[in-house]
Amino acid sequence: MPESYETLIVERRNRVALITINRPEKRNALNIRTRQEGAAALEELRDDASVGVVVFTGAGDKAFIAGADIAEFAGRTALTQRDVMLGRSLFTAIDDFPKPVIAMVNGYCLGGGCELALACDLRIASETASFGQPEINLGIIPGGGGTQRLTRLIGEGKAMELILTGDIIDARTALALGLVNMVVPAADLESKTMELANRIAEKSPIALRMAKEAVRIASRSNLDEGLRREVDLFALCFSSEDKDEGVKAFLEKRKPVFKGK
Ligand code: COA
Repeated sequence: MPESYETLIVERRNRVALITINRPEKRNALNIRTRQEGAAALEELRDDASVGVVVFTGAGDKAFIAGADIAEFAGRTALTQRDVMLGRSLFTAIDDFPKPVIAMVNGYCLGGGCELALACDLRIASETASFGQPEINLGIIPGGGGTQRLTRLIGEGKAMELILTGDIIDARTALALGLVNMVVPAADLESKTMELANRIAEKSPIALRMAKEAVRIASRSNLDEGLRREVDLFALCFSSEDKDEGVKAFLEKRKPVFKGK
């Protein structure tokens, strides 16, 4: 049974959960409700063993997410804004989510939308998608991790350029910068993303979790600490039945069947 949300649609496709931000008339801008519902949806999917991968997308063919809901900024005090941002963050919930999360970017991916995509593990873009951090044009700066995650992903020079100019770039340029993993024709976006998501969802959930955690550590620690943590996470995989199954299946020349145990 799909969960019921006001601003989201959550669907299950095999072992993949598809979360669609559903405010197309507002270009799927993230208001407080959408952020809360997004975090709640992830909370529901976190311990659901039937879900191996989560995909985020936007409703309609114009926008993935056109940013924070600017209407909510009007008249807001600094203290209220701080409370909103220090509350339960959707971006942090994605970052901390123990399963892979993929952004399926189908149009404008701006501001908080780009930050949401950056918090995901992989980004697949349609040829018609566009990307940017246009906050500077509103007299503000990215506040959902954009200055940090974009810089770590594409380097300081290009991140600085995008953030200082507020320029919007097309999907091919985003691919060249390493901001997205893949660009596909708009008509193929869903099938290609689902194909990738399903392929990942067949792997051991335990190994996926350890892999995500290990890679995330790389940009948050020094090399010695990262290498040390990698060894711990690698060794932890040896406590799983999935590791026994993976090794056994290889030796028996068959496809492994992972159970997430
Ligand atoms: N917050 C709130 N409302 C937004 C929004 C946002 N980030 N982005 C779009 N909308 C709303 C528009 O206000 C408009 O509402 P209305 O029909 O009630 O007037 C509706 O969505 C459609 O937007 P429109 O600008 O007419 O669509 P478009 O297809 O011509 O342009 C964008 C799309 C995304 C280029 C343009 O809407 C835009 O620049 N949005 C703001 C992007 C931004 O600065 N994001 C960073 C926020 S921190």
